[in-house]
Amino acid sequence: MITRYRIGTPFDMESVVVQLPVHDGALPGWETDAQNKCLTRTLAKSDIVYGLGESVRGINKRGWLYTSNNSDDPHHEETKHSLYASQNFVIVFSPDTKIAFGLYVDAPGKINFDIAYTDPDVFSISFEDFDADLYLVEAGSLKEIVREFRGLIGRSYIPPKWAFGLGQSRWSYMTADEVREVADSYDEAGIPLDMIYLDIDYMERYKDFTVNEEAFPDFEAFVKEMKDRGIHLVPIIDAGVKIEEGYPVYEEGIEKGYFCKKENGEELVAAVWPGTAHFPDFLNEDARRWFGDWYGFLTEKGIDGFWNDMNEPAIFYTADHLKEVFEGIRSFEGKNMDLRTFFGFKGLVASLENNPEDYRRFYHDFHGQKVRHDKVHNLFGYYMTRAAGEAFTRLRPGKRTLMFSRSSYIGMHRYGGVWTGDNQSWWSHILLNLRQLPALNMCGFMYSGADLGGFGQDCTEDLVLRWLSLGIFTPLMRDHAAMGTRRQELYRFKNTEAFRNIVGLRYALIPYLYSEFMKAVLKNDMLFLPLSFEFPDDERALTVEDQLYVGESIMIAPVYEQNARGRYVYLPERMKLLRFRSASDFDEEILEKGDHYVPADLNEVLVFLRPGHVLPLAASGARRVDEINEQDLTWFTFEGRPEEYELYTDDGISAIN
Ligand code: GLC
Repeated sequence: MITRYRIGTPFDMESVVVQLPVHDGALPGWETDAQNKCLTRTLAKSDIVYGLGESVRGINKRGWLYTSNNSDDPHHEETKHSLYASQNFVIVFSPDTKIAFGLYVDAPGKINFDIAYTDPDVFSISFEDFDADLYLVEAGSLKEIVREFRGLIGRSYIPPKWAFGLGQSRWSYMTADEVREVADSYDEAGIPLDMIYLDIDYMERYKDFTVNEEAFPDFEAFVKEMKDRGIHLVPIIDAGVKIEEGYPVYEEGIEKGYFCKKENGEELVAAVWPGTAHFPDFLNEDARRWFGDWYGFLTEKGIDGFWNDMNEPAIFYTADHLKEVFEGIRSFEGKNMDLRTFFGFKGLVASLENNPEDYRRFYHDFHGQKVRHDKVHNLFGYYMTRAAGEAFTRLRPGKRTLMFSRSSYIGMHRYGGVWTGDNQSWWSHILLNLRQLPALNMCGFMYSGADLGGFGQDCTEDLVLRWLSLGIFTPLMRDHAAMGTRRQELYRFKNTEAFRNIVGLRYALIPYLYSEFMKAVLKNDMLFLPLSFEFPDDERALTVEDQLYVGESIMIAPVYEQNARGRYVYLPERMKLLRFRSASDFDEEILEKGDHYVPADLNEVLVFLRPGHVLPLAASGARRVDEINEQDLTWFTFEGRPEEYELYTDDGISAIN
């Protein structure tokens, strides 16, 4: 059962698809303090809090302050409060009473979720603007709460099936030849691959919907050449539109008045990759349609997948603030800078990027109302991706288009997936990746994944291999790394065979992963589940933060520490361990419920099969998703029957209504 409560006069975010009547009364179980703009409740010592999608820390969110404030910040340390997304859904579970409820806070501005941080026994939610729709979700189990909530927010985005293949990315492949070389090298190494991503340098001076003709001559023919060999090119689209006379996207946007404006009616000038740029007002329906249609520039050339970036939106500086900074710097000239003034001086340049003041300098036309950006800040990435998603139904009717975004808000899950942004080649980020997955699923984000191997910093071969032992289970499986970092394409490492085998295992798992993904999407279930969602009565399972159930049949427990030879695993039930060296080389062992130390060499992936369940595996050898032979499956069973398994198959490219 879902009940809608309201505080103040919220906007309609269009994050839900079911319009419930507003219950007049205060949110039960919480104290509403209008003066301090906050909601509070006490937590019992053993209460667990789940949710908040893409955020730092554990599966159990208790013990930290999480702020919904979409931020372009590549330092995903555990002491951060905000990442790129605002997914304001939490579930509070009391193991003592077995009572759980979900709460969705539908408000687009800054919100603090103080989950037993200030006071270890208190959960408080405070707002900058006390206007929100609050949806209280009550049901008999954790899984049922998620199912009800997902019914409220609508069906999750479905990508083409080929998007379950491996994608290789780097900032940036600079020329068509470099892209060809990546494809050739993968093929030569015998490592399957379905996508190569084009980062900002495919464009002409970072202008959206342009192609650098010198570096990528006859782009359309190139897209076809790659597609003929089974590889999809996936270009990036950025939120900022370069200011440049003669550039049609800029000129049309100005002429139609579709860019975000300041109080005085002038367009905001903010700089991103191309230097000064304007932001399309994605919250305005007409502007959204206009920007969405521009994706046609690339779909006409055969492109069938995109990633939307810098849509928090990221701001290097605004022209107005830059002026203030120059003036500020000049005012220090010739002065003796002491402790206080020196830091003030030093902070000036640092204050340019993503400055909160800048988010108060521009406005949207939202549902016909002039709204200051900071009031609806967290919607920007959602509405950019919605522009694309809505456009694809016009540009590619009846077909699925790959789409994922960096910034998001609940509601965007209907138009695309997410990748979790600029992580680092750190062992701790394997664990962060694992912990974010179930929380993303709770909030409707099903097609999601992290930059495997880490975006920032230099990776190591063992880190990439171990990361893949998680990454081969994530729907979005992409290796992406930043400019200047050690090369991270899988064929570059010494032990090519291990990479060939682990990616081969992924492709062999696709019949299962795709089935479980599709069933979860269609039934509003999660693909990745914390152990507690399956075993809420098992006290030990409640605290496990480094293992996940993936679909109905298996549990995974990746190794995430360097030089480890294995790891401790908790089994909440008797299971069959499948230790895979490749799809055709594995050993099996039955393990009893309880704690086990399970050895796992660098080239081994641990999969635990549940009793009463089966795991289908395709024969190895497919180099592309399309080559997987779904007719010839090997069934791993553990007291389960293959004929009882619901294998989901379709053509993988037609839109599903
Ligand atoms: C941002 C993105 C990253 C991309 C880079 C250049 O940092 O998060 O994935 O490579 O921009 O476009």
